[in-house]
Amino acid sequence: MSKKIIIANMKTKLNAKEMKEYLKKLDGQITYPGVVFMPTSLYVPYFIEKGYKVGLQDIFFEKEGSYTGEILPSQAKSIGIKYVMVGHSERRVHLNESNQIINKKIKNALTENMGVVLCVGESKEEKTLMETKEVIRRQLFTALKGVTNLKNFIIAYEPVWAIGSGKIPSKRELAKTIAFIKEFVGEMKDGAKVKVLYGGSVRSKSMPIFNQIENLDGYLIGGASCDAEEFLKIIELCENGKA
Ligand code: PGA
Repeated sequence: MSKKIIIANMKTKLNAKEMKEYLKKLDGQITYPGVVFMPTSLYVPYFIEKGYKVGLQDIFFEKEGSYTGEILPSQAKSIGIKYVMVGHSERRVHLNESNQIINKKIKNALTENMGVVLCVGESKEEKTLMETKEVIRRQLFTALKGVTNLKNFIIAYEPVWAIGSGKIPSKRELAKTIAFIKEFVGEMKDGAKVKVLYGGSVRSKSMPIFNQIENLDGYLIGGASCDAEEFLKIIELCENGKA
């Protein structure tokens, strides 16, 4: 089984002093090649200086022009960013981001040959109504409309109810949803190359459970990635094939 991809979604956590302390704790500790940090954009240069792989938590949907407060893919690329995340549920919920906007962002990022991490997942209510598959199908269908290049593409399955809640899906549910996502993209050109990650309350203690899911390609980690000791523990488990 190939080694897992680990993406740290650091959201809006840590102030500058805390971030420097965090980076100090990581110094010289990470040899595993599969780690990508997505810190708050302000702190991106700190991570680039250290030689880490870095991604942005979001990207703008236009290619050029003046858009106060936004970051264009060409700018991101020029500083050494290789990946961008789109469609995180916190953006879908708090910023009303639609699948159509996410589709524009994906196409825009791909024109700069950036790796894209697309987040999908159902809410608690949708899960209760047993609509998980339908919701994800809709999200993928619109977000990937007209997208022809899936060579460097990652999909993160993040059930909204699992994010920051301490809850995780059952093994069976997770394996089933991941298989569904792989089947969906499998119909598209280069779809077989797409990696599918899981995100939502990933902790080192749940790694033995996740490790039993054969079709899982890695993790998108929020809270636990902001705790240096815990994050290093997760990386070590992945490095040793235990996660
Ligand atoms: P969490 O967040 O690990 O804190 O649940 C994951 C995410 O929102 O990407």
